[in-house]
Amino acid sequence: MSASVQVLEHDKQRVNTLEHHWMPFTGNRDFKSAPRLVVRSEGVYCWNHTGGRLIDGSSGLFCCPAGHGRKEIADAVHAQMTTNDYTAPFQLGHPGSFALASKVAKLLPEPINSVFFTNSGSESIDTALKIAMAYHRACGQSQRIRFVSRERAYHGVNMGGVSLSGMVKNRETFPVTMPNVVMMRHTWLEENRFQRGQPTSGADLADDLQRFCETYGGGTIAAVFVEPVAGSTGTLVPPVGYLQRLREICDRHGILLVFDEVICGFGRMGTPFAADAFGVTPDIVTMAKALTNGAIPMGAVAVTDTIYEAITDAAPENAIEFFHGYTYSGHPAACAAGLAAQEIYEQEGLFERAAAMSDYFLDAVWSLRDHPLVFDIRGYGMMAGVEVLDDGAPGRRGGQLQKDMFWNGLHVKFTGDTAILAPAFIAEKAHIDEMIDVFRKTLDQHARAA
Ligand SMILES: Cc1ncc(COP(=O)(O)O)c(C=O)c1O
Repeated sequence: MSASVQVLEHDKQRVNTLEHHWMPFTGNRDFKSAPRLVVRSEGVYCWNHTGGRLIDGSSGLFCCPAGHGRKEIADAVHAQMTTNDYTAPFQLGHPGSFALASKVAKLLPEPINSVFFTNSGSESIDTALKIAMAYHRACGQSQRIRFVSRERAYHGVNMGGVSLSGMVKNRETFPVTMPNVVMMRHTWLEENRFQRGQPTSGADLADDLQRFCETYGGGTIAAVFVEPVAGSTGTLVPPVGYLQRLREICDRHGILLVFDEVICGFGRMGTPFAADAFGVTPDIVTMAKALTNGAIPMGAVAVTDTIYEAITDAAPENAIEFFHGYTYSGHPAACAAGLAAQEIYEQEGLFERAAAMSDYFLDAVWSLRDHPLVFDIRGYGMMAGVEVLDDGAPGRRGGQLQKDMFWNGLHVKFTGDTAILAPAFIAEKAHIDEMIDVFRKTLDQHARAA
């Protein structure tokens, strides 16, 4: 293998081969035969290695609502690294993690007030699984050994997240997963195609949870994990009343409700968290991505007072209460990035801006409805899924569209044949128009070639 790439002048010394990096979730051979590198990013734009400019239609991977290259974040990280670069996180602390935890807690609905730091969404999911187990054990309910997830769910790639995964490609290679996980049906219904916002039918799909309670005994179920809007499988917006019904069933049976807000959190739904948008308060919230505007890897799990107190009170005084944590939990650089990102969101009113721009954005996405290759459109807040007809091999057209859009000047994340559009909240109307123009132009090229 001798893949190489033409790179910009300043990178020439550093990058002259692609062969050693085994890329994640990527067709490595295909990529290395025709690489797509980003060498600079600023605001809503990125520049590729041939000098071409792209508009970022997916905020990277749903990470950067404040846009790329935010100097405030870079400066805060630099200042932190030159003051205190690393502090061991066990039995020791530094001020940044407490400050960031307070900021995040203030954004979350009451009574969710305690924040545990991780380094990614996947780690947040594994942490939440352990918190659920620790909570029930502390309450004398160790018989709660079952977890409920959902078809078409994505909860990251660690073993806990894979066990909760509802995406076959993410599971079938790894048959040894956690036992005792059962899957509710997903919430996509043919009759809801092209419905904007929350679909009107499908609340009854939540009754799958009630059926599990009747089959296994509600008292054997520890927690239910859902993405309020399932992101990675193409923006499946919860039907009206669905999340409320899950909440009711959980309450009836003492089951914890976990919202995986790794994508939805920090304004994507036009509110701080999806819990606010849909009016349902979970017991545990997982988050990552926009926590730091994507600048430094970081995740977090936030829990209610009841959970925090049950776990901490169950241990003897002076003892460690929760045997879990990462070397980089609450890393000073990540906390500095997180604090700076949260300040930007606040000062620039970016969550409000997301809410205000949502209609324009969704109108623009829905304008693609008439295109012969478009099979369905779904969307809420500043996130939309555009599902295209497959070309006989599921995912092939989506993969090709993603590449062609890159060269036509748009970065957009595809999962299978669904594009997930999620612009930065700093995007202007003209930026949204530009995204949709490139999207349509690329669809036209494919339609002509079909
Ligand atoms: C809902 C959800 N949970 C978990 C994850 C995993 O996050 P990470 O890739 O940071 O591990 C993702 C990533 O996209 C996600 O969308």
